[in-house]
Amino acid sequence: MAIKHCKCLSLLLFLAMFSIFLAGIAESRPVNLCGGADYKRLCQKIVKGQNSPLGATYEVVHQLISETKRAKRMLSQSASSKSQAAQICKENFDDALFDLHVCITNQNNHDKGSFNSNLSAVVADYVACDDAYTEAGQISPVDKLNKKLQNMADIGLYLETLVH
Ligand SMILES: *[C@@H]1O[C@H](CO)[C@@H](O)[C@H](O)[C@H]1NC(C)=O
Repeated sequence: MAIKHCKCLSLLLFLAMFSIFLAGIAESRPVNLCGGADYKRLCQKIVKGQNSPLGATYEVVHQLISETKRAKRMLSQSASSKSQAAQICKENFDDALFDLHVCITNQNNHDKGSFNSNLSAVVADYVACDDAYTEAGQISPVDKLNKKLQNMADIGLYLETLVH
């Protein structure tokens, strides 16, 4: 009798552990969102706490907006903030911010095609900032952050392909 009781308890314990295990799998889904992404670590950092591709895509756009604003501040605080390259760069960051807000509208309208072209336009804005400095033969004060922004936008384009 005592042995039987004991077996039943271990079965219950096993079931309890198993459901914790299953819950763990469900919780780790955001990590799997980045399985096919190019910049997996950056992607996982961005989509942390999200459990759907749509939520993750919104998150990327929101973080792009705040990081683009940070890039603008960094640019205006740099020693070369009055240079022509900095002016071109600033305009492109403004364009990127505008396009990112259009991306949110596209998401709200479930318009994947427009989202893609608008987010691609955002990437082009960031690239134009790099080009302005390259053409001027100067080192961009936002070089690193601008590369990160391009990678983040790439991740956004990837995550959008998972949205159905
Ligand atoms: C951005 O989205 C709008 C729809 O909101 C669309 O009309 C427009 O063509 C898109 N822009 C680009 C650059 O593709």
